[in-house]
Amino acid sequence: MSYIRSQAFEETGYVVLDRYDQEADPKEWLDLEYVDWKSSGDTRFAPLASAFGEMECNGFWNHTPPRTDKDGVWVEANVAKAPHLKARAEEPGANIGRCRVIELQPNDYAEALYNLHQDDNNRLNPDGTGWIVRGFFNLSDDKDSCIILREDRFDPETEVRIALPAGAQLIVDTQRFWHAVWQKGPEPRYCLITSWESGPALDAYIEKYHGNPHSASLPLDPAFVEEAQAQVRRRLAERAAILAAKGKADHGPVDPEA
Ligand SMILES: [Fe+2]
Repeated sequence: MSYIRSQAFEETGYVVLDRYDQEADPKEWLDLEYVDWKSSGDTRFAPLASAFGEMECNGFWNHTPPRTDKDGVWVEANVAKAPHLKARAEEPGANIGRCRVIELQPNDYAEALYNLHQDDNNRLNPDGTGWIVRGFFNLSDDKDSCIILREDRFDPETEVRIALPAGAQLIVDTQRFWHAVWQKGPEPRYCLITSWESGPALDAYIEKYHGNPHSASLPLDPAFVEEAQAQVRRRLAERAAILAAKGKADHGPVDPEA
């Protein structure tokens, strides 16, 4: 047995869908209730679907009974304020796990590199069922910002930087990629993030919106990249030394979400 996966992700692990007309919708994300939830960077989250419909963001595997990232329950107080966002999460017709709006405060490139992490989307996911991937629908207009994807955490040669204007729509295998967002600001970024189960419904949705597994990567000066890499290496070494002095293992700056 093995997981059901989308052909669309086979080559690069992500697809960029047709751009959505975000300006036509109300800014529902500004009305939602946010909860503090430490992710990669300075973040808050507004849950739309959670493990039991509560206003919280924990991984479904951290609840009792623990379960995988599927069958999310709508958080009534927030979906009542965000019918467009709920409808967009439901449009593929795929099983939905966690669904939430992230608010990310501005950061810089080196900070984003430090925040690179892999998601834990498929913990407890039974073999033979659909692999969980995540949709990212950018809500605020962050055209100079980007999501950074790397196959290899420490290899800039594997990096893709996808711009995040309002209406940008990506689906990413975030358990495969090291990823984080570089939000230039000055305003925070808002993005709808949905866990979907791979399968025929998601495949059809990707096809309908012309999922493209090759995005133009935002250009960056290699010297700038190398300086940021050096900063991250220094910071990680400092972190490891502090943890070693305390006798703790260093699992890296990995967070379950973003
Ligand atoms: Fe993430």
